[in-house]
Amino acid sequence: MLVLGIESSCDETAAAVCSFSDDGSKSLLSSEVASQINVHRLYGGVVPEIAGRAHCEAICGTVSAALSKADKTLDDIDVIGVTSTPGLIGALLVGVSYAKALAYSTGKPLVAVNHIKAHVAANYLCHPNLKPPFTALVVSGGHTSLIDVRTYTDFRRIGRTRDDAAGEAFDKIGRVLGLYYPCGAEMDALAAKGNKNAFRFPSAAIADDTLDFSFSGLKTAALNTINSLKQKNLPVVAEDIAASFTEAFTSSICKKILPAVKHCGYDKIVLAGGVSANSHLRRALSELAQENGYSFYTPPLPLCGDNGAMVAAQAYFEYLEGNISDIYLNAMA
Ligand code: KG4
Ligand code: ZN
Repeated sequence: MLVLGIESSCDETAAAVCSFSDDGSKSLLSSEVASQINVHRLYGGVVPEIAGRAHCEAICGTVSAALSKADKTLDDIDVIGVTSTPGLIGALLVGVSYAKALAYSTGKPLVAVNHIKAHVAANYLCHPNLKPPFTALVVSGGHTSLIDVRTYTDFRRIGRTRDDAAGEAFDKIGRVLGLYYPCGAEMDALAAKGNKNAFRFPSAAIADDTLDFSFSGLKTAALNTINSLKQKNLPVVAEDIAASFTEAFTSSICKKILPAVKHCGYDKIVLAGGVSANSHLRRALSELAQENGYSFYTPPLPLCGDNGAMVAAQAYFEYLEGNISDIYLNAMA
């Protein structure tokens, strides 16, 4: 079965073609990502109105490129999957409207995909043996969630951030350090060169027996430290700020992951979302999983950020469950 996946929830217009066989094998035939980062960079973050317009400009070319790089035509496609929630409404609407028109005009089934489920599904494309149930952590620019993944489609959120998402904190601190949006990858590289004990930032793991996080206190502590160094005319060593922030971020996640896995009762941990590209987090979670006898899965870097392949993967499992949308499908922010 060939699935076309379309993604436009934030600042990447993406499309991919994936092939799924009855024996469970999956292959990624193409994955095209048209990034809008250079435009949003001028404003230090994603401007929703500009994102929607840029998706309109890019979507036809991106889908055509995904089909031609897969050496397929629209006729070959069996299922059209599209991210319908969550995300920026003006951005989501472009992908949803485009996919609806494509499905309506070709008579092919249309499948609505949840963006968070899609991030998790990226793992099925690169870890052929991975199957639910497992405990997932989705960390991105808009989300930080611990999830009990019971089946390919049945997700129960067991923990979440009560305020900022992890990626948002990386981006805001990076911006004040003078980095270009999105700052996560550069913060990652700086952290590798800094002293993680230079500053002691508060934990983002909420201290009672909840599985929730709060990143706003950690983010504000890092921002206040930078501002106070500047006010005192003291040097701001970006490497040390990045390393100390990353240490607080990583240890906060590690604090909640074992209780989350115990709560679910599984032996597998899956890490997904844009922030799952963070080398320090990947290392820490992989070591923690190994020490405690759990298997650990995370996608390779090109499948961590937003892409169409993860949408195609989740669309395939939704389709098998009979979750097919009609022409009245709407986007939800
Ligand atoms: O999943 P994603 O592409 O978009 C959303 O669904 O939000 O995630 C983007 C986020 C940005 O905040 C970006 O700074 C962050 O992922 N990110 C990273 C790294 N690479 C990207 N954060 C930390 N370390 C990284 N290496
Ligand atoms: Zn995402």
